[in-house]
Amino acid sequence: MKFLITGADGQLGRGWQRSLESQPTDEFIALNRQKLDICNPECIRKVLTEYKPDVCINTAAYTYVDNAEKEHDLAYRANVLGPKLLAEICAQRGIQLVHYSTDYVFSGKLSDREIYKDGYPEEAPTDPINQYGASKLEGEKAVVSALPSALIARVSWLCGLDGDNFVKSIIHRAKSSGQLQVVNDQFGIPCFVPYIIEQTRFLLHSRTSGLYHLGSKGCITWYDFANKIIEDAQLNVNVEAVDCSALSTQAQRPYFSKLSTSKLEATGMSVPSWEIGCKTLVSDLIKV
Ligand SMILES: NC(=O)c1ccc[n+]([C@@H]2O[C@H](COP(=O)([O-])OP(=O)(O)OC[C@H]3O[C@@H](n4cnc5c(N)ncnc54)[C@H](OP(=O)(O)O)[C@@H]3O)[C@@H](O)[C@H]2O)c1
Repeated sequence: MKFLITGADGQLGRGWQRSLESQPTDEFIALNRQKLDICNPECIRKVLTEYKPDVCINTAAYTYVDNAEKEHDLAYRANVLGPKLLAEICAQRGIQLVHYSTDYVFSGKLSDREIYKDGYPEEAPTDPINQYGASKLEGEKAVVSALPSALIARVSWLCGLDGDNFVKSIIHRAKSSGQLQVVNDQFGIPCFVPYIIEQTRFLLHSRTSGLYHLGSKGCITWYDFANKIIEDAQLNVNVEAVDCSALSTQAQRPYFSKLSTSKLEATGMSVPSWEIGCKTLVSDLIKV
């Protein structure tokens, strides 16, 4: 298969490159924003004409959750206009599109934890509580409308070897201070980049399209996650549990945003526990 990766300098874009570099049977190009701005239709057409991929993997996005409250235009350009253009141009040329979205499309009310014990299913009503989530939801709708056979993959709490993420931040903060405060009243599930790529590739190879939740098994708080990272990294740091009200942020965050992977599992794909993903990532980060 011939892949085009957008957003090549991001966490997931870099993860895709690592994965494809170890798969000699596949061809790919990975382009960062300077080489392929997904908001520039001429640039998209030129790249698709020259490279002729079978599939375009759109990892490009505006992901600054707090800044999005003020930078609406930037968030909407990258998260709605760009995906819409990619989907329209891929549709004209018969190219499959994989577009990533987020758990932040849901309202994340704590009461939803009782209703959706296994996590939000794909068909649960959406109702984002911040601008980032709203822009990503609009992006999903724009992609489906232009290319109904696109694969839209929602992920949550994304962590991998590259870029900034919670695992790296906890290890860094633990090493630089003896005490950590971590939120213990927001529930969700970490997604680890290698598994997200493996799950995406499985769906692509089985020619599955539509909306899917990817990820790991379990449901935890950020505090639980931090404790496991500290344990796996064998660091000696005290982690203090706090309510999210103790930490002020520009954008509201969901209290509950676990994504159910039942639909993915029904396709025959196995989903790892979050503990396995955490242990593997921490061990890989320590080696780097
Ligand atoms: N990170 C998470 O916890 C999380 C959670 C749920 C869902 N997701 C979704 O997962 C996907 C991948 O996230 P990520 O963590 O890999 O994000 P990331 O590390 O922020 O990477 C996104 C990349 O997209 C680039 N980009 C922004 N606008 C662009 C444009 N117009 N054209 C081309 N490239 C552009 C960014 O470049 P600049 O750096 O120059 O802006 C950045 O390199 C996104 O769809 C995100 O919404 C992420």
